[in-house]
Order: sequence, then C-alpha cells, then structure tokens
Amino acid sequence: MNIAVVTGGAGFIGSALVRTLLAQGAPRVAVIDNLSSGKEANLAEVRGSVDLYAVDIRDYARLAPLLKGAPVVYHLAAIPSVPRSISEPAPSHEANIDGTFNVLRACVEGRAGRVIYAASSSAYGDTEALPKSETMAPRPKSPYALQKLTGEYYCAVFTSCYGLETVSLRFFNVFGPRQDPSSPYSGVLSIFMKRLLERRPPVIFGDGEQSRDFTYVEDVAELCLKAARAPGATVSGHVYNAGNGCRYTLNETWRLLCRMEGVEIQPEYGPPRPGDVRHSQADTAAAVRDLGHAPRFSFEEGLRRTLEWYRSTL
Ligand code: UD1
Repeated sequence: MNIAVVTGGAGFIGSALVRTLLAQGAPRVAVIDNLSSGKEANLAEVRGSVDLYAVDIRDYARLAPLLKGAPVVYHLAAIPSVPRSISEPAPSHEANIDGTFNVLRACVEGRAGRVIYAASSSAYGDTEALPKSETMAPRPKSPYALQKLTGEYYCAVFTSCYGLETVSLRFFNVFGPRQDPSSPYSGVLSIFMKRLLERRPPVIFGDGEQSRDFTYVEDVAELCLKAARAPGATVSGHVYNAGNGCRYTLNETWRLLCRMEGVEIQPEYGPPRPGDVRHSQADTAAAVRDLGHAPRFSFEEGLRRTLEWYRSTL
C-alpha cells in the first residue's frame, strides 16, 4: 500500500480524517473498517477516492498485507465507550488491545512509515489538577481507559524496540457531524442534539456538573495530519493531548444548546454512570509546541455546525 491508510476510516472521526486527507491533496486513501459501527455512507462524498477494505483489525492474516509499505497508518479503529467496556469487556479488549497490537506488528513487519494512534483522554481518570497534561500519571477508571492507555504503551515500546515511528494523540470528547446518536453508548452531544431537535429532555447521569473538553472533529482530523508531518526525532514515541483546551459542564452545555435553538427544556437526571470521569480538560501546550496544534473551532461554532447537520439529516 503506497497511500495513507486509515483504520476505522468509515467511522465518525475516521471519515472526517479521510475527507481532510483528500482535501489536503492525498490522491487516494485506503480505509480498513469492519463496518461494525462505521458506515460506508459516512464516506459517500469521497467514495470514488477511497479504497475500502471491510477487514477486522483482529484478523492479522487479512490486515497485514494492507499495511505493508504504507507511508502513514492512522489507527482509529476501536470499540469506543466507557460504559460499553464495563458491560462487555471482552470485545473491547480484543479490538482495542489485540487489534492495536496487530496494527503495530503489521507495520513493523511491513515496514510502514509512521503510525498515528487514536489514544483517549480517559487515560487520565480523575487527576487532582486541571488542565491535564501529558506529564501526569495516568489513572484509568474503566476497561476502555486502560485499553487505550495500553495502546499508547505499545506504541512507545514499538518505537523503542523496533524503530517504528509512532505518535499517540489523546482525543478529548470529539463531536461533530456523523456522530451516531442511536445507541445508549453514543457520545453525549449526539444524544443531546437528537433530543433537542425532538424537543425532548435528555437524561443527565449524575448532577450534570461533570465537565468535558469537547473537541470539534475537524480540529482533531487536522491535528492527525500535523502529527504525521512533524519531525520524527521530536515526536516519535510520544503522547500528546488532542483537545481544545476548554471545559464545559453538561448542565451549561444543555443550556447553551437550548439557547441556540430558542427553547427551554429541563433535563432529567439519573444515577451517575460507573467509570465516569468527573472533569476533563486538555493542556494543549505540548501539542501546540511540537505539532503546531491550532484548533479553529470554538465550542459554540462546533455546536452550531453539528446542530445544522443533525437538523438536515435526522
Ligand atoms: C470518554 C473519553 C473520551 C472518549 C470516549 C469514547 C473521558 C473524559 N473522555 O468519553 O475522550 O472519546 O470516552 O467513548 O474519559 N452522559 C449523560 N447522558 C447521556 C450520555 C452521557 O449524562 O445520555 C454523560 C456521561 O455520564 C459523561 C458525559 O456525559 O459524564 C460524557 O459521556 P460520553 O459522551 O459517553 O463520553 P465520555 O465517557 O466522557
């Protein structure tokens, strides 16, 4: 494969990355996706420039030939969701740890150039200080957080032991168009937006005062490309926060959405969710310094764009 590869490229974040790659001049992009949560429809506008392989990253024999010689492999394929990893730990373990190992192993054996790994802010758990910086000791609180952290460690070890270039980007609650709101495990903003457009109250788990660094999907896609281009001597084997740097509670986020829509709907409240992190906010200094991270979308602008997308599709 002499073109960039995106695992999980039919997913909500992966497909945004594919569109960004093509918009910035890639002639074609290869996508590896088992279509479990990804959808071919997410790639509709760019389908003619995408080679789509419906392959599971757990299947080493089918995966390895696809990564051979790839200049850059963006590894986003995963089974996400903190609560899903608690109720069904085995599938997420296999996809997120075994699958990541397979990708790295295939990249070493096939002499791929660089791996950009989608790590997760969940690795931090409940740290005492905010914002959270890469120098803090990780404190995973859920199988998902541990699995994503293990992937980072594997990346760093594959860099030091085998010379494979890797960069781990800790994604912070990514949102935007194409995020699927239909499962109980869906990202909170996709659920909020669906409820808002249906004029129904959302259910907030806990008191709603937990906060997140919601990051617009196009800013994350852009940062993935920057990580692929940054000098290997500086960035390889390292972990960077891929967040926006801001922090909003769920209560303020719902109020903001209601204001944007010109409605007033009181949320309902349910019990707190096991494994939930209380507060999350990225210190972006290292990503700004080493990768040139420069998020373009304020939270409100990202919300506006995303809401318009749901309005036109739901
Ligand atoms: C975590 C990671 C995130 C990762 C994601 C993958 C943290 C801080 N973030 O997101 O980087 O991308 O896993 O799945 O660990 N909630 C409600 N009502 C709902 C749904 C959710 O109140 O209907 C609440 C949750 O309890 C949580 C917050 O909204 O407090 C965000 O939940 P969710 O969108 O699922 O993401 P995280 O678990 O924070």
